[in-house]
Amino acid sequence: MPVSPSLYDSVLAASRSIRQAITTRPRVGIVLGSGLSQLADRVQFAQTLRYVDIPFFPPTSVAGHDGRLVAGAWAGCPVVVLQGRYHFYEGHDLSLVTLPIRVLAHLGIHTLILTAAAGAISPNLQVQDIACIRDHINLLGANPLRGLNDDRLGPRFLDLTTIYDPTLRLAAQHKAQTLNWTLPEVVYAAMPGPSYETPAEINLLRTLGADVVGMSTVPEAIVARQCRLRVLAFTLITNAAAGLGPDPISHQDVLAAGRSPDAQRLADLIERLLSEPVVSQPAEPTNSSA
Ligand code: HPA
Repeated sequence: MPVSPSLYDSVLAASRSIRQAITTRPRVGIVLGSGLSQLADRVQFAQTLRYVDIPFFPPTSVAGHDGRLVAGAWAGCPVVVLQGRYHFYEGHDLSLVTLPIRVLAHLGIHTLILTAAAGAISPNLQVQDIACIRDHINLLGANPLRGLNDDRLGPRFLDLTTIYDPTLRLAAQHKAQTLNWTLPEVVYAAMPGPSYETPAEINLLRTLGADVVGMSTVPEAIVARQCRLRVLAFTLITNAAAGLGPDPISHQDVLAAGRSPDAQRLADLIERLLSEPVVSQPAEPTNSSA
């Protein structure tokens, strides 16, 4: 007997209401991070729903996170774009932070593309760089799968060895090359926030092997894997991490970087990827895939 049937029920209710409101069947989901909302302008035949009109979706409380779901076509691929996400630092339980991911999976997507702003820890990264996440370190002190498991939502003991899909990462590398830029692969450290880190914490994260630091992405990636979605994640470097740059870190600067032409570079990359069957089509089933 599952202890939290309400999570499963809320996934069903939210996805039912979205399905009634949109005319497409999305295959790829895209989450737009801080300041990156305008990437949804590329969606054609857009049908927009506000989170407040979707059952069990609370309003977002962060500037730069709009709180809208946009369904339509991007590069000919049926997509659903989340303009704005929920964060642990807003006080939400991680099961709520990740509810939209479960709902997108229930709507029928096979692939999830996550985007997020991040601070650069690695000396090889600069503000405005775009990087592909190859692995993460979860320092939130919480896991979205914690608690008694409802098996209808997926397995409890989840393998995360290749949480960020190697085939999709390779496709991203090739597409970046065709756009004439290099796409560094990074390890993303998730911190709970909402304060930015101290320089001592950034030193610690560097020692642990993190290249970038942010406050999102990781819970969504974990839940996406539990839902058997393929995950690809990009991060836009908006600032040098604490103690590594000349200026204090400000949320306004993070948002402004998201609105820069570099955000459009990220949109170009996503657009090219969506036109590729390796991204727009589900993966071939293999013997090793569960
Ligand atoms: N730290 C944590 N989260 C962030 C940062 C940072 O420096 N920049 C953008 N999101």
